[in-house]
Amino acid sequence: MILSGLSPFLKLPLLQNLSREALLKMDPEIAHGATISALRLGLAPEQDGADPPELKTSLCGLDLANPVGMAAGFDKNAEVPKPLARMGFGMVEVGTVTPRPQTGNPKPRLFRIAAAEGVINRMGFNNEGHEAAFQRLKGAHVGAVLGVNIGANKDSEDFVADYVKGVIRFAEVADYLTINVSSPNTPGLRNLQADEALTRLLAAVLKARSKAKVRVPVLLKIAPDLDERQLDDIARVVLASDLDGLIISNTTLSRDPVLGMQNANETGGLSGKPLFNLSTQRLALMRQRVGKLPIIGVGGIHSPESAVAKFQAGADAIQLYSALVFGGLDLLERIKRGLTAAVRAEGATSVSQLTGKKTDDWAAGRASL
Ligand code: FNR
Repeated sequence: MILSGLSPFLKLPLLQNLSREALLKMDPEIAHGATISALRLGLAPEQDGADPPELKTSLCGLDLANPVGMAAGFDKNAEVPKPLARMGFGMVEVGTVTPRPQTGNPKPRLFRIAAAEGVINRMGFNNEGHEAAFQRLKGAHVGAVLGVNIGANKDSEDFVADYVKGVIRFAEVADYLTINVSSPNTPGLRNLQADEALTRLLAAVLKARSKAKVRVPVLLKIAPDLDERQLDDIARVVLASDLDGLIISNTTLSRDPVLGMQNANETGGLSGKPLFNLSTQRLALMRQRVGKLPIIGVGGIHSPESAVAKFQAGADAIQLYSALVFGGLDLLERIKRGLTAAVRAEGATSVSQLTGKKTDDWAAGRASL
């Protein structure tokens, strides 16, 4: 996985041969575990120097040195937010964490679609629970904006109560919280995106937030598998609430771009390059509906051009995960350089000036990569 870019830096004999090619030959979940271990051991390369001023931005009142984040699901248990920050991510979102630990779905549950640079996962919120993540984050100075992504236990009798517990637990250690109602791997979870259920959920979550000592921004992460009417409903509920922003999107249940490819029939959510056009169009459609509400764009970013396109479609900041499996760590650096060059080419001074330049084209399906 992302260890692929680390080979020149590896010092331990055991890890010396973990090249990107070797990781890509491993079982994907074992490769992921090896990557987390390497990061924990301090084997990640560190960013040289500060980010250029053009990449500085703010999101929901938070200052980011650069607008590129690690998406949720990579560091489910908050083990490596600091090494990820030192690598150069401007934001790190840990989780999804659920109140109680849970093992997730039976293995294998993570698959590469190498031909399309896609990933399918049905992990099912495997995580060590709130307490373990909280103990790791308490008092930690991460060095990047820290998001904690919260969810519900699969066997919970009250999903809403689980999110409320997450807000109470993490409000004081997180820079922002993400309400994840869009994982396809917890039965019933995505139903929370529907009008009345979402209204109730947001009311409960934001009431809990209002009782915390600090006002932590709360964002809602939605699926890309929503039609325009469902987007209308979500926009209406969100704009009537005190929610701080949206994250668009999680993985997709659709398979159109990968039909017939190896592993394409596995159950779960598809991410990576084949998700790019769908998630970017949904982002643009939502941007048209919510005005200036902050949106983090996620889904299929795999190159500097795709990162620029996500901003043009309407993102204020971006996150990625799957492309690091295939592209290696230098992708982060290349994306940041590409964004800086795009800002300068526009004669602009800030990456925020790229936001929304092509929203209408993306929303109408006139743009694609
Ligand atoms: C994810 N994603 C995810 N999202 C989330 O909100 N909570 C989670 O626990 C997970 N877990 C997870 C595991 C694995 C293995 C993958 C590949 C993805 C979704 C992720 O954060 C992101 O929204 C999508 O993967 C789309 O972005 P990329 O991967 O195409 O850049």
